[in-house]
Amino acid sequence: MSKRVSLTQYLVEQQREHGKIPSQLRLLIEVVARACKRIAISVNKGALGDVMGSASTENVQGEIQKKLDIISNEVLIEANEWGGHLAAMASEEMDTIHVVPHRYPQGEFLLLFDPLDGSSNIDVNVSIGTIFSVLRKVDNQRGVSEEDFLQAGSQQAAAGYCVYGPQTTLVLTVGDGVAMFTLDRETGSWVLTAEHVQIPADTKEFAINMSNMRHWAPPVTRYIEECLAGRTGVRGKDFNMRWIASMVADVHRILSRGGVFLYPWDQREPDKPGKLRLMYEANPMAFLIEQAGGMATNGHSRILDLQPGKLHERVSVILGSKNEVERVTAYHQEVAAKPA
Ligand code: AHG
Ligand code: MN
Ligand code: MN
Repeated sequence: MSKRVSLTQYLVEQQREHGKIPSQLRLLIEVVARACKRIAISVNKGALGDVMGSASTENVQGEIQKKLDIISNEVLIEANEWGGHLAAMASEEMDTIHVVPHRYPQGEFLLLFDPLDGSSNIDVNVSIGTIFSVLRKVDNQRGVSEEDFLQAGSQQAAAGYCVYGPQTTLVLTVGDGVAMFTLDRETGSWVLTAEHVQIPADTKEFAINMSNMRHWAPPVTRYIEECLAGRTGVRGKDFNMRWIASMVADVHRILSRGGVFLYPWDQREPDKPGKLRLMYEANPMAFLIEQAGGMATNGHSRILDLQPGKLHERVSVILGSKNEVERVTAYHQEVAAKPA
């Protein structure tokens, strides 16, 4: 049997051999991974634990929170606030940032997360996940504020997600490729199961919520209509469609076998750039996708180059296999009638 490499060993080697990870970042990733294990336990309990259904509270985005949204948020905060590696945290489920309390040492990193992604799938036993993004606090001379978080995705020190599916898998980048770790439930450890993950540049699979088709901008409609036209259309090949409605699960499929994922701007709310959130959904996923040789844009620019204006900013997302993302982006660039 080949030797098993644990997450701890992988991180130590990254620190030692590649000089990629300072010790605070290593601790941070281990703590997030441990929190994900706790979330996985709650997810797995389902109806046997008090984790299903709504909490009848709203988050800052006006969405009804599920019990598991709140539980996961609390698990991540509790796990991360005392270790000395963080200055502050931000989450989909919190209006403002959570500064590490004074009773604990302040670290140099900032952590953002979507504690539970794919909330609509919790109660129907479909894959869900946790997404996280790590930034450095640039100015260490003063206290931490929301402004410290407003950095382009290209500044991320690390990013990843955990998918709670048939297997529980942690997917990570520290800027040196993408690695996947499967949770061994018997030993409780994360075992390296894929390294140097690469997405094929071409694909025959797209992921989009087709029920919004009548609201899309022309470049998106054109791209999807061409896919649907299949072998006898301009693309000259048949396409398959998948939509799980958990970004984590859709991105995981794309990292595993290629594909393109779109959650575009649509005209129902023209002033809203998209549904997904830039800082704790699009940025970490774009970092992973680029590290795996794929591409991520908002139709016009590289997602990782976007300068966030606010913590809960939304963005249009097109990501995955490079040649497909390039094509959709080119269609946007050709059309003058683009959303604001
Ligand atoms: P969240 O559960 O964190 O609010 O995110 C849900 C997101 C994303 O995971 C998914 O791709 C998308 O919403 C699904 O949207 P539709 O319900 O429109 O399919
Ligand atoms: Mn989400
Ligand atoms: Mn969420």
